[in-house]
Amino acid sequence: MELDPFVEHRCSDFGLEEQRFLTDGVVTGYGLIDNRKVFVFSQDFTIFGGSLSETFAEKICKIMDIALKVGAPVIGLNDSGGARIQEGVVSLAGYADIFLKNTLASGVIPQISAILGPCAGGAVYSPAITDFIFMAKKTSHMFVTGPNVVKTVTHENVSMEDLGGAETHSSRSGVSHFMCNNEVELLGGIRKLMSYLPLNNMESPPVIIQENDEPNMEGINSIIPSNPNKPYDMHLVISKIMDKDSFFEVHKNYAPNILVGFARMNGKSVGVIGNQPAHLAGVLDIDSSLKGARFVRFCDSFNIPMITFVDVPGFLPGTDQEWGGIIKHGAKLLYAFAEATVPKITIITRKAYGGAYDVMSSKHIRADFNFAWPTAEIAVMGPKGAVEIIWKNKIKEAENPEEEMDSLIEKYRDKFANPFVAAKRGYIDDVIEPSETRMRIISGLELLKTKVDTNPKKKHGNIPL
Ligand code: HXC
Repeated sequence: MELDPFVEHRCSDFGLEEQRFLTDGVVTGYGLIDNRKVFVFSQDFTIFGGSLSETFAEKICKIMDIALKVGAPVIGLNDSGGARIQEGVVSLAGYADIFLKNTLASGVIPQISAILGPCAGGAVYSPAITDFIFMAKKTSHMFVTGPNVVKTVTHENVSMEDLGGAETHSSRSGVSHFMCNNEVELLGGIRKLMSYLPLNNMESPPVIIQENDEPNMEGINSIIPSNPNKPYDMHLVISKIMDKDSFFEVHKNYAPNILVGFARMNGKSVGVIGNQPAHLAGVLDIDSSLKGARFVRFCDSFNIPMITFVDVPGFLPGTDQEWGGIIKHGAKLLYAFAEATVPKITIITRKAYGGAYDVMSSKHIRADFNFAWPTAEIAVMGPKGAVEIIWKNKIKEAENPEEEMDSLIEKYRDKFANPFVAAKRGYIDDVIEPSETRMRIISGLELLKTKVDTNPKKKHGNIPL
């Protein structure tokens, strides 16, 4: 249902009075996806490069206002050169109005952005405030300043594709959450994403029961290799526990050492966060902390229970990480998990070392159920590092230091490389076989349906941004 089709711009400078177009370059309205209401705006690059005028902004603000009142998501199809240059500050004001509404709507209604052409300036900052950004290969571009400006200022000769194409933003900058092969796939992706989300923060996510949604659990008890240093793919674990083919991965190409995405358990939406041992041994670094934290906060805002799979050797050491601020960025993930009040269930599949044990939705930061597989190892650090620190002198003074070290590592493993020290203290609710995991999660979620938990009253917290 289109709204405001008769709106025209009001500018009479720079010869614009002779060029008036119905809609003024943006089509706005509402409609249904799977019978659920959504609002949408779509920018038209053929009219002044899709650039944003005063009236163009008013049209977008109008549907955002109604969407907030009725509690329905806003989907923005962006294809715009940013603020309309001929309108000057009036168009900047229009963008600021949109940014404010994006901010106020954040956490109240889902906001989804598609980038469908070369987008610059405000046409990327508004999407940046929204929850998810979709880009298509080759046709989508996002930059604050285009290649010509970059060349003038920095003398760098960079193509539009390298500067702000889908590949760049989905893997290097992390600005985009979904990279699609083309625009048709992109629009299908938005519809699919919607199927996991509630329409607003007062609703529960939809339940979609499908026939035969039991996953194939065959081989689940032997996914974890007997050698603790051998990688395996956490996707496999997820696919054998969640409803069949229900995992919809977010930020697939960015920071692949952590996996995040939506899935279903018995038809109910869940957010999945998992360390990925197949990439950098699943270590936490700056990018993976940012990726995880943003996803956790989205799930918590929109009542989506979280299932966390843990196999993490700790935080990535090194000057790149320390100087890049791993302390403050890692703290974001810790803060996000600790702040979240939705149902939280954690499964430790193998390593849970050091601060990363605490961070990854541990019992101590309010996870509701924490389970460990028999292969879990919960300790301050890995055996080799630990032995080299606490028995440094013993090893140095030994007749055969190598043998001594091996025997001390064995001793350390016996003591800590298992889930029972934590289970005896109740930090782990139970040690379960991998094949029991699906049933335990479903039962936990059922129990937690009526969970009530709140944070102390405050204006807002001060997450270490
Ligand atoms: C008015 C614009 C325009 C704009 C493009 N057009 N951008 N008109 N205001 N911002 C017009 C062009 O004049 C042209 O008109 C038509 O749209 C197509 O543009 P082209 O340049 O021919 O297309 P292309 O080569 O594909 O390049 C697309 C582009 C480039 C990369 C987006 O147009 C560009 O760099 N535009 C300016 C981007 C920008 O700096 N915008 C202001 C940002 S400031 P004709 O009549 O020739 O077809 C901003 C403030 C927000 O947005 C605050 C942020 C925090």
